[in-house]
Amino acid sequence: MKIIVTGGAGFIGSTVMDHLRAVGYDPVAVDDLRGGRRANLDASYRLYETDIVDGDLAAIFDAERPDVVVHHAAQVSAAISVRDPVLDARVNLIGTLRLLQESVRASVRHFVFASTGGAIYGDTDVVPCDESHPARPISPYATHKLAAEYHLAAFERLFGLRWTALRYANVYGPRQDPHGESGVVAIFAGAMLEGRRPTIFGDGLQGRDYIYVDDVAAANVLALQSEALGKFNIGTGVVTTTREIYDHLRAALGFAGEPNYRPERPSDVRRIALDATRAETALGWRPRIAIDEGLRRTVEWFRERHASAARASS
Ligand SMILES: NC(=O)c1ccc[n+]([C@@H]2O[C@H](COP(=O)([O-])OP(=O)(O)OC[C@H]3O[C@@H](n4cnc5c(N)ncnc54)[C@H](O)[C@@H]3O)[C@@H](O)[C@H]2O)c1
Repeated sequence: MKIIVTGGAGFIGSTVMDHLRAVGYDPVAVDDLRGGRRANLDASYRLYETDIVDGDLAAIFDAERPDVVVHHAAQVSAAISVRDPVLDARVNLIGTLRLLQESVRASVRHFVFASTGGAIYGDTDVVPCDESHPARPISPYATHKLAAEYHLAAFERLFGLRWTALRYANVYGPRQDPHGESGVVAIFAGAMLEGRRPTIFGDGLQGRDYIYVDDVAAANVLALQSEALGKFNIGTGVVTTTREIYDHLRAALGFAGEPNYRPERPSDVRRIALDATRAETALGWRPRIAIDEGLRRTVEWFRERHASAARASS
């Protein structure tokens, strides 16, 4: 099966590429490398270094004739989307629409979309919440991800497109960018290893549902193999506070410092966790990696990366 993975050189997309190849599929990446890295991909993978907003997607679809599109390319930060909602719309709406058009033209069998359960529900009435909970986005990023889901549903009605939206919780793990504006595990680990004090926005008691990247990649494989379509939460249902993540990483990395506290950001959800019962029932998916084990693997990866960078510069 030929699969185009947009954002395939990024943190989650590159892990999805590896999982797809491991089960015998033929994934090819489309990524303009504004956030991703070629080094995230094994040298044997093909990568189209192309912007989904204004690149020649038709040429890629004609050359590859994909059966499936797994769409991860995105402007990924809620905070950036507040500062620049037009940029966010360009990538997350226009880029997605262009891929949907090409997918219809190329008779793609299944379109899998990386959505966000961590952001689209906003502050929820119940924790954990399932897919029937109203979406009340509090950032342009979340609004555009939700709008993209509506476009998927409209393309199904108009053209019969088969689609799945995986609404991820907060994803963490190896290859996450430590210098981005989202992804506290990577940002904290990166800062601590460089001897810098990490910043916590707010009091640190905000709660998130942390899901390990291999569990997320496994959900993508199951989704594209399944006849079940629609929206699925992909999370653990467990709330962990930012301060707990900080303390865990501090102990694991032997970091002595306290965080810098800065004012809470208006686009940050206060407390969220996702009920993934639907994914378990319909896709046979459930999280396998508990947070202690996931953080252990992540710390090990960041420590090794830091050590090899130090060796290279000495
Ligand atoms: N990390 C999370 O916690 C999380 C949670 C929910 C949803 N998601 C979604 O998962 C997907 C992957 O996110 P990630 O955390 O791996 O971030 P990432 O930044 O590592 O991956 C995004 C990739 O998209 C590429 N990209 C961005 N704009 C592009 C463009 N215009 N054209 C081509 N490529 C472009 C980047 O170079 C990068 O490789 C995104 O759609 C994101 O919204 C992530």
